[in-house]
Amino acid sequence: MKFMFLSAADKAEAWREAILAKFPGAGFDIWPDEIADKASYDYAIVWRPPVGELKTFPNLKGILSLGAGVDGILSDTELPEGVPVVRLVDRCLTEGMSEYVLYWVIHYHRRMGVYLNWTRNGTWKQMRQTDTRDKKVGFLGLGELGSDAARKVAALGFDVAGWSRTEKHIDGITSFHGKDGLVPFLNRTEILIVLLPLTEATRGIVNKETLAALPEGADIINCARGAHVVDEDLLAALDGGHINAATLDVFHSEPLPADHPYWTHPKVTVTPHMASLTVPSSAVEWMEENVRLIEAGKAPLNTVDVKKGY
Ligand code: NAP
Ligand code: GLV
Repeated sequence: MKFMFLSAADKAEAWREAILAKFPGAGFDIWPDEIADKASYDYAIVWRPPVGELKTFPNLKGILSLGAGVDGILSDTELPEGVPVVRLVDRCLTEGMSEYVLYWVIHYHRRMGVYLNWTRNGTWKQMRQTDTRDKKVGFLGLGELGSDAARKVAALGFDVAGWSRTEKHIDGITSFHGKDGLVPFLNRTEILIVLLPLTEATRGIVNKETLAALPEGADIINCARGAHVVDEDLLAALDGGHINAATLDVFHSEPLPADHPYWTHPKVTVTPHMASLTVPSSAVEWMEENVRLIEAGKAPLNTVDVKKGY
């Protein structure tokens, strides 16, 4: 069995070690330097492959994504036909994302940004503490990542809701779904977390209209993709005061360009697309399971529906 590995973002040598531990004797070649005889590869392990590259490997049985989001694979308009694209679902990835979300939800709820600014300047001052049960947290996206984070935020006592394409039945989480559910969901959401896949239906979903539907003083945490947000609309809502603050992990262009206003905006916190990173020693378990399924002639888990885009 032979794997080709293509990613500018992941540590190839860590992956080589992890894959060879699961598949002793397999081939593992790193694109582009180690690639020879493109017909000999069975599996492509990829993050953001160049358009048209994967179709030059004629015998692939599976395209295994190094990330949960597959927008960077589906943007290849020339993907080989009939080869399943399998997205990453992994315990470490899920737990890492929930940690990031919990950290920022608590940060905004307890107004830690304000307190840290005060104490750094030698100011000793307290604000009224509010009841966690009254704080309304909302997740755009209740999939693998959104649902885990939502459950954990709800376990702390917050009033949690989520919006998804289809209705969800998750204990302790209020479900809104579909186009009609979006505005009522936004109207009640004081801390908004974006955990949607980037598709034609979700691109630019955080825009002038949806921001206006949030209550005055809402906070935003975007840990999905930069293109979910219309930057000018968010900046205007922050400057106008309707939105209190935003934590942004993902951007239209990454790394975030040096002259982007987000870097210095007093109400914006930038993190470098690290909300949850793929851990090879854990994610390889999912890869092994899917390769075994495909080798046994079965459908892999978490196959992407190319039409839906996730
Ligand atoms: P997932 O399991 O596929 O879940 C996607 C969720 O979004 C589902 O609840 C889905 O609804 C909902 N959704 C999709 N299209 C929708 C639409 N048009 N209207 C309403 N809801 C819609 O994905 P995931 O594993 O949770 O990952 C979510 C995203 O997180 C990834 O796509 C990626 O972009 C991002 N991510 C970021 C980082 C980071 O470090 N910043 C790390 C990992 C992932 P249904 O359940 O009804 O289908
Ligand atoms: C990271 O952004 C991922 O999609 O896993």
